[in-house]
Amino acid sequence: MKYGFFDDINQEYVITTPKTPFPWINYLGSNDYYSIISNTSGGYSFFKDARLRRLTRYRYNNIPLDTNGKYFYIKDGETIWSPAWKPAQTELDSYQCRHGLGYSRFISSKDNIQASLIFFIPNGDNVEIQMLTLENQGEAQKNIKLFSFIEWNLWNALDDMTNFQRNLSTGEVEIEDSVIYHKTEYRERRNHYAFYSVNAEIDGFDTDRESFMGLYNDLKTPDAIIAGQLSNSEAHGWSPIASHSVSISLMPGEKVDLIFLLGYIENEQEKKFYSDGSINKDAAKSLIHKYQTTEAVDEAFNELKLSWNKKTSKLQIKSSDDKLSRMVNIWHPYQSMITYQFSRSASFFESGIGRGIGFRDSNQDIAGFVHMDPQKARQRIIDIASTQFEDGGAYHQYQPLTKRGNNDIGGNFNDDPLWLIFSTTTYLKETGDWSILTELVPFDNNINNSAPLFEHLRRSFYHVVNNLGKHNLPLIGRADWNDCLNLNCFSNNPDDSFQTTENLDGKNAESVLIAGMFVLYGTEFARLCELLSKKDEAIEAYSHIEKMVEAINTSGWDGEWFLRAYDHFDNKIGSHECDEGKIFIESQGFCVMAGIGVKDGRAQLALDSVNKHLACEYGIVLQNPPYSKYYLNLGEISSYPPGYKENAGIFCHNNPWIMIAETKVGNGDRAFDYYTRITPAYLEEISQLHKTEPYVYSQMIAGKDAYRPGEAKNSWLTGTAAWNYYAISQFILGIQPDYAGLRIDPCIPKEWDGYNIVREFRDVTYIIEIKNPDHVNQGVKQLIVDNHVIAGNKIPLMEKGSTHNVTVILGN
Ligand code: GLC
Ligand code: GLC
Repeated sequence: MKYGFFDDINQEYVITTPKTPFPWINYLGSNDYYSIISNTSGGYSFFKDARLRRLTRYRYNNIPLDTNGKYFYIKDGETIWSPAWKPAQTELDSYQCRHGLGYSRFISSKDNIQASLIFFIPNGDNVEIQMLTLENQGEAQKNIKLFSFIEWNLWNALDDMTNFQRNLSTGEVEIEDSVIYHKTEYRERRNHYAFYSVNAEIDGFDTDRESFMGLYNDLKTPDAIIAGQLSNSEAHGWSPIASHSVSISLMPGEKVDLIFLLGYIENEQEKKFYSDGSINKDAAKSLIHKYQTTEAVDEAFNELKLSWNKKTSKLQIKSSDDKLSRMVNIWHPYQSMITYQFSRSASFFESGIGRGIGFRDSNQDIAGFVHMDPQKARQRIIDIASTQFEDGGAYHQYQPLTKRGNNDIGGNFNDDPLWLIFSTTTYLKETGDWSILTELVPFDNNINNSAPLFEHLRRSFYHVVNNLGKHNLPLIGRADWNDCLNLNCFSNNPDDSFQTTENLDGKNAESVLIAGMFVLYGTEFARLCELLSKKDEAIEAYSHIEKMVEAINTSGWDGEWFLRAYDHFDNKIGSHECDEGKIFIESQGFCVMAGIGVKDGRAQLALDSVNKHLACEYGIVLQNPPYSKYYLNLGEISSYPPGYKENAGIFCHNNPWIMIAETKVGNGDRAFDYYTRITPAYLEEISQLHKTEPYVYSQMIAGKDAYRPGEAKNSWLTGTAAWNYYAISQFILGIQPDYAGLRIDPCIPKEWDGYNIVREFRDVTYIIEIKNPDHVNQGVKQLIVDNHVIAGNKIPLMEKGSTHNVTVILGN
């Protein structure tokens, strides 16, 4: 069952009922100021940091779900309705929610009034624009009242939810003209306030929640809305809100635009107050002035659209598969960009108060957006590398506001360092910006102890070499990519965190996943050394890589697939010898991506085993069989019920590893088949089961052993975004940026006739036509660039600003 449809021309997903199987959300903002917004306008805003600078309140874990947001009420006679359905929840005559790139628009109607309500954050300003257009589509004059509603958060979102003894006394506001200012704690150490304005004369306001709602009421039927009149309440402590009321009279056919602005202002210390002691409102007023007309709002909206167009235009496909095209052209780039921006902080599954920026996660995110915003990728790489330790290890996370490593979680996740090599080499291939390697980057944020980025990569490489175990495989540390395979945390105490507890010395447990990663990304490091003419260094690196391949061959192969790990007692994990968890996905993906066993048939065998034991209708599960009980020596993985999350859920993040691995053995049919099993556009028809948004990936889909296989959770912020985009664009469609040109190496289903791609690479536009007359999976038979046949499959670098026509004929 579907709950809407894709509007590819407008790059939107159009939701046609407010009652989706789960709130379907979107993101606004691109620089410092952000919001999340659901299909009933639930959600919240924050400045930079969802925990420390939260502007509006949202209650996770609420009953019912998603009941606070940016709300409007229209009172038309006795009927009260909301343009986004909530909070009034009155049945509407029509309803649409259009989630687009950086904006959401609601179009709805009731009793001949049509409301069109757009939310977006203009480029460069810390303000959310909410423009509401009301039109009288009937024959008679309408006299209505419009009410707005938001609830202020007292800035620190965690404190706001816990510290009531203080917070119920601190709330402060100011009201001037049609603007409500929220200034809690501004009188002391804060230099920031928020405001909520409307470009119309108001006939009332409320800033005290209880006066607005009534103590025993809820947002569906606030007292003030029922009465049709706000009481001009001034909040002193308790829960400050902002609500305006505007009286509107519309002749038949008449239309009015109301512009609401929800803004964030920082003032310099000396200029915090006016001489009368009230807050300095200059900056707020100038923002309000800037966006007071429909024309100004339209112009800002067009700029926003243009900036997204610029990003998505870097890679566009024309194919006969609409689902593929809309993913590649719109939703892959969009989700990748959003995931980069928000890291893992704020979604409807991430509370905005938990994780900082993950070393591992954010390095992987680079692969999903570097071609769209190389500047931001560069900065992110430097920021991440600045939290690396001298020995090559790294803080697992850092805080976005301070950019400092997070001591609570610390380090010792031994896959972390290698991801820095992946992100940096991916950046280099895309941009050719070699200067990043000589950039001085501190260790542990200590500027007195800095080294060129290249040195950080070297430390990453040798962190693995210096931390090998008994089988010459890498020690796993707290955990590798799989946060839940905790082989050094024997925890019997439910109050321990699996993420931070490490009570063994860590000298035993080894990871075959990190071994595969080392061969793959270590080789990238060695290649880099060669390109930099560091010959000896390259030779030495290759020798370590060879040893690692040997170790995998000797101790990492189980007969039909790659082992996953050795635990503290030297027991195998992910072996046919195990009772449960006999085969894991990660080591199959990474070892084959690294090329191990490709020549001797073991790679094929491993992938066949994946197909046989792990693949199911909804994707590829993480391991099989799932753990049916808790294992002290394995940790969190066995804490999840079978079929969920890391215990045999379909972790959409690692499925593309198998897709890419399939392309390494030339199986384009399987690679693409796996892609369609988890890719949202292909799941639209089963939205009822899938539950989460059909336009973005979720981190996890319940696996075949779960109670309800196919049900997804944790949509939006996941490494799945970058990896699937990377897999489909570079390995299946085969457009691969490389140091000295664009390599074309598709691996597609045999039945495909071909497709067209436009790719902007290093300021050159390539218009590429790929033809598959012989119906093969893989192999470039001929490459023609501007009518010249080129040997091999790499298009050399061309003059900046130029455009080239490329024809690629696949065949043997
Ligand atoms: C989550 C984490 C990621 C981890 C994965 C597997 O997605 O963000 O860092 O690799 O889970 O445990
Ligand atoms: C849990 C989750 C895992 C996530 C980790 C860190 O272990 O299962 O996916 O990466 O928490 O938040």
